[in-house]
Amino acid sequence: MTEVEIKKVLNGIRAEKASLPTRYLYDNLGGILFEAITELPKYNATRDELDIFREKLDEIAEVLPEKACLIDLGAGSCRKAAHVIPSLQPSRYVAVDLPSDFFVQSVNSLENKFPDLTVNSLSVDFSNGFQVDLVRKLQGNSSNQEPLVYFYPGSTIGNFKPDESMNFLKNLKADGILVGVDLVKPPEVLLAAYNDSLGVTAAFNRNALLHLNRDLGTNFNVELWGHEAIYNDKKSRIEMYLVSLKDQIIESSHGEIAFKKDQTIHTENSYKFTIDSFSEILSQAGFNNLNSFVHSTERYAMFTATKDL
Ligand code: AVI
Repeated sequence: MTEVEIKKVLNGIRAEKASLPTRYLYDNLGGILFEAITELPKYNATRDELDIFREKLDEIAEVLPEKACLIDLGAGSCRKAAHVIPSLQPSRYVAVDLPSDFFVQSVNSLENKFPDLTVNSLSVDFSNGFQVDLVRKLQGNSSNQEPLVYFYPGSTIGNFKPDESMNFLKNLKADGILVGVDLVKPPEVLLAAYNDSLGVTAAFNRNALLHLNRDLGTNFNVELWGHEAIYNDKKSRIEMYLVSLKDQIIESSHGEIAFKKDQTIHTENSYKFTIDSFSEILSQAGFNNLNSFVHSTERYAMFTATKDL
């Protein structure tokens, strides 16, 4: 990390409304903890999405470009890709995620599962926009490059603010997209998903501090931080915070940072959508031919859409 980047993160933690970039949730252990979250009885998004794949993938495949280059944004374990590849039958699969050993191992095992598929991986942070040139390089310069279909499952798009999601989608050089979103539901259902009784989400949240200590040389003690997830009804989003359990002083390369008991650090937003609100975002981003595939419980939906490049 450059000094400028370090200073930016430290300023975020020092601010009155302290915050930490959400990417700090995802290091090697963070990826594993997130996989554990997807198994929690009350975190339904991942299971709902798999149900949609099981029941509707053939319909989904019909409305997306054929023989595509399938670009998996936030591929993680590549588990979801393994579900969709047999139906979508892409010519090429490009897994994209932040660098970690977990990601490398996941891509390797996917490659073993589909020996006839061209599999590539890109270890990049795409949160500020995805550089399509990286894929174009993999495809080579031939005139018959595969159409670009983005696979963006898991409601990861909900971790952006709506205007950021719109801009991100607008800037995507895409022929098609398959994207999953978590739908608005009663607050008590959402709160149970983000405040699990086993404490897995708390560990996922607190692990961001270990990641930060490694990156910035700070000395956060995770035992002195609690986990909090609240539902912001007005903004239709879950907000996740770390809460200081006592007055404490953190040391950093740019001086000390004082936290009072109960002071918080914001670590994540997770937006929940309606079919209309997400359709609006896709349309504003220049996508058309929108289709939604809604889970029978109406808790989760997948959208397909295409774009004229
Ligand atoms: C990755 N992302 C869609 C998850 C979510 O639900 O926003 C991350 C997560 N945070 C807490 N639990 C899961």
